[in-house]
Amino acid sequence: MQVLLLGGGGFIGSHMVSRLLQDTHHDILAYDLCADKLDDVMGQARLTYIHGDIRSDQERLEALVKDADLVVDLIAYANPSVYVSMPLEVYRLNFTENLRIVEYCVKHQKRLVQFSTCEVYGKTVVPLVGDKLPDPEAPEYAVFQEDTTAMILGPVSKHRWIYSCAKQLLERILHAYGLEDRLNYTIIRPFNFIGPRIDYLPSEQDGNPRVFSHFVQALKDGSSMPLVNGGHQKRTYTHIDDATECITRIVENRDEVCNQQIFNIGSPHNEVSIRELALKMRALYQEKWWDGVSPLPELVNISGDEFYGEGYDDSDRRIPDIGKAMLLLGWKPQYTLEETIERSMAYWFDHDDNHPTNRRSACNAPEPNLDCPAIDAPEVDNRHASL
Ligand code: NAD
Ligand code: UGA
Repeated sequence: MQVLLLGGGGFIGSHMVSRLLQDTHHDILAYDLCADKLDDVMGQARLTYIHGDIRSDQERLEALVKDADLVVDLIAYANPSVYVSMPLEVYRLNFTENLRIVEYCVKHQKRLVQFSTCEVYGKTVVPLVGDKLPDPEAPEYAVFQEDTTAMILGPVSKHRWIYSCAKQLLERILHAYGLEDRLNYTIIRPFNFIGPRIDYLPSEQDGNPRVFSHFVQALKDGSSMPLVNGGHQKRTYTHIDDATECITRIVENRDEVCNQQIFNIGSPHNEVSIRELALKMRALYQEKWWDGVSPLPELVNISGDEFYGEGYDDSDRRIPDIGKAMLLLGWKPQYTLEETIERSMAYWFDHDDNHPTNRRSACNAPEPNLDCPAIDAPEVDNRHASL
C-alpha cells in the first residue's frame, strides 16, 4: 500500500513511520510542517517526506489523498495549553482542516484512519451503573468503552473542552458518512501515550508541553515540578511501542475488522495520579541518573488558571476499556507503568543532547494562522520523492 501519514513528523507519527518501515512493505508518505523527529529514518527508500501546511495546501493534499491507498490523519494541536490560549485555532485545525481531508477521502473512496482522543469522554461525573453511583475510587467509575460510554464535558466558559468537542464532532461526521456507506473509516482514541520524542522541553521551544516533558525539564535543571490543582487527577500511561503495535494492526486491517470501528488504545493497568507520576519520576531519576549533588526538584502546587490561564478545566480520571482491540485485533499492551516511565525517561537521560530529535525546532510549533495566508511554497523532500 501507499500510506499517507498526515502529521507523520510528530510524536506518534514519527514512531509510526519507523514501525511501518520496519514491519511492513508499505510505501510511506509522511506529510508535516517539520521533519526533525524523522531524522533517524530519513533517506530510507520507502519513505517520502513531504513538507507542507495542511491549512494552505488543498490542491496538493487532494492529489495526495487520491493517490494513496490509505490515509492516516494525525494532524492536530494536541497540547492542553493551546486549547486554552488559542481555542479558535484549535477548532480550525483540529476540526475544519481535518474535515477537508475527510471530504477528500469520501470523494476519492479512500480508507481513513482518523486520530481522535480519549478526551472525547471528558469527565467521570455520572457514569450510572444500574440505579446506583459506583464508588468513585473503583476502576469501573472511570472505565470508558467506545460504543456505550456517554461523553461529559465542562461548560463553554471552560474552553479547554473545545479540543474534545472538535474531535467529537469530527468522529460524529465520520460515523454519519459511514451510515450512508460513503466512507470506510477507523477512529483511534489514544490514552496518554508517552515515549521518546513526545514533546520538546520547555527550554527548547516556546510554549507549554505535556506533563511528562515538564517533569523531565525539572529533573534536568532542578526547577520545580508543577502539580496543577494538587496533581490528584489521574491518567493511564501507554508506552508508545505498545501503541504503535496496535495502530499497525489497524493499518493492516486483516479481515477488514476495523471498518467503521472506534478503538480505545491504552494501558488500563497503568493508572497513576499526576502527583504519583512526579514522585515516581523523581525517585527513578535519583536512583539511576542523579549525580548526587545537583538539586532535586520540589513538587509545587499551582492552580489550573495560573498554569494554563483562564478557561482551563481537567479530566479527573480516564481508564480505557480495551476489550474491542483485544478481541478484534488480538492486541494487548505489554509495558507496565514502571517500564513505560523508565523507558521514556531513558531517552532523555541516556541520550545525547545534541541528537537532532532533541534539539529545539521552530518548525514544530505552528504559528496561529487565523486567516490561513499562503505560506512559502511547500517543498517535497526530493531526496526520496517520487511525487
Ligand atoms: P504531535 O503534536 O507530536 O503531532 C502532530 C503533528 O502535526 C506535528 O508533527 C505537527 O508539526 C503536525 N502539524 C500541526 N499543524 C500542522 C499543519 N498545519 N500542517 C501540517 N502538519 C501540521 O502530536 P501527537 O502526540 O503525535 O498526536 C497525534 C494525534 O493523536 C493528534 O491528532 C492528537 O490529537 C492525537 N492524540 C494523541 C495523544 C497522545 O497520547 N500523544 C493522545 C490523544 C490524542
Ligand atoms: C493530553 C492532550 O489533551 C492530548 O495530547 C491528548 O488528548 C491526551 O493528553 C492524551 O495524551 O491522551 P492531558 O493528559 O490533560 O491531555 O495533558 P498533559 O499536559 O499531559 O497533562 C496531564 C495532567 O497533568 C493534567 O491534569 C495537567 O493539569 C497536569 N499537569 C500538566 C501538571 O500537573 N503539571 C504540569 O507541569 C503539566
